[in-house]
Amino acid sequence: MSTNFLSLSSNFFFLFLTVTLLYVAYTFNGLQPKKTNLVIYVHDSFTGEDTSAITVAGKSGPSSSILHFGTLAAVDDPVTEGPTIDSKLIGRAQGVYINSQLDGKSLYMVFSVIFTYGEFKGSSLEIQGPDIFIMKEREFGIVSGTGHFRFVKGYGIMTTEFMDVANLRAVIKLNVTLKHY
Ligand SMILES: *[C@@H]1O[C@H](CO)[C@@H](O)[C@H](O)[C@H]1NC(C)=O
Repeated sequence: MSTNFLSLSSNFFFLFLTVTLLYVAYTFNGLQPKKTNLVIYVHDSFTGEDTSAITVAGKSGPSSSILHFGTLAAVDDPVTEGPTIDSKLIGRAQGVYINSQLDGKSLYMVFSVIFTYGEFKGSSLEIQGPDIFIMKEREFGIVSGTGHFRFVKGYGIMTTEFMDVANLRAVIKLNVTLKHY
């Protein structure tokens, strides 16, 4: 009789423990950030029929070169899944670059990547930081986002996939690592 009672109460104890642990695990899991890795390509063209970036101000006015200190440019660059322009268009990179290094070799960037296709359609990432474009790899910060990327924090590595300096046309690879909820 007393053995039965003991085993019954210990069953209840383990059931209670299991439910509590599941609840805690579930709640805790809800607070854990998700990690997302994304590789996208930005096509930045200051010349050509498909011009997507223009200088708007600088030391010699709107016609200043983006390679000179102080020049400000507005960009609305196509963003694709792969390195070539005929790969899937997944969004736009819209914002501002300002050449912010006295020797002209670095741009300060503030732009949004606005996704228009695929899993992240309707969401955006806010990118901010320097682009010392003579370096092979440049790290930048992801400061916020919208939609899928609310409360995002992250970083990215930028590399130049293609560069035509004479015509100021480039394809930039962005490899971003994100933590979001
Ligand atoms: C992206 O960057 C991460 C490090 O942050 C690296 O491990 C990974 O190999 C990179 N992926 C590509 C496709 O470059």
